[in-house]
Amino acid sequence: MTENAPAMPGKPVEGEEPDLDRRRMLATTTAAVGAVGVALAAVPFIEALEPSESARAAGAPVTIDISKLAPGQMLSASWRSRPVWVLHRTEAQLAELSKLNRQLKDPLSKEDQQAPNLAAWNPVTRAVNPKYLVVVGICTHLGCIPKYRPQVNDPSLPAHWPGGFFCPCHGSRYDLSGRVMDGSPAPLNLPVPPYYFKDANTITAGELADGKEQNWEPNTW
Ligand code: FES
Repeated sequence: MTENAPAMPGKPVEGEEPDLDRRRMLATTTAAVGAVGVALAAVPFIEALEPSESARAAGAPVTIDISKLAPGQMLSASWRSRPVWVLHRTEAQLAELSKLNRQLKDPLSKEDQQAPNLAAWNPVTRAVNPKYLVVVGICTHLGCIPKYRPQVNDPSLPAHWPGGFFCPCHGSRYDLSGRVMDGSPAPLNLPVPPYYFKDANTITAGELADGKEQNWEPNTW
């Protein structure tokens, strides 16, 4: 399988592991630096507790602790061997979302890329609680893992970058709701899996609160 081959259920594509390794390395480095009291302006990104191997292999729902996830930070868990991101959006990030609609392929999330109960949610924030975005972090083009790039007008990215997710493989761009931007090779928004808030600090991803939708899949799998 090539670097850009699509992700298959239960089998990450080649090229994912280096990204995961890099994220783990960044999380470790950030923790070490924070321990000596040095402030960094690095992109905030922390790791969630990993589920057990047996649960992961079975594709079971995963429990994600968001109690330490500060505004602007994102963590990555694993569900069905895929990265599930939780982003704690800031008020400024939320305010940007509705301004981007005219730059997006599917601004109102009409494509079948989110669990069924999303129809009752806000199609712009694509979330149960607007502060927390929960998406599967796999590009809908050919399965690479996009990068979280929250800095507005980041000079290393295309002009007028609003903050979002950038796929390094072929340049697909997503906003901070995982909605794909016009001009991207990716055809669809990032998938929003079934999930619910078990309590204020805990998300269960991979099913709804009534235990349904454990077999849900988006169009891109
Ligand atoms: S895999 Fe091609 S742009 Fe992401």
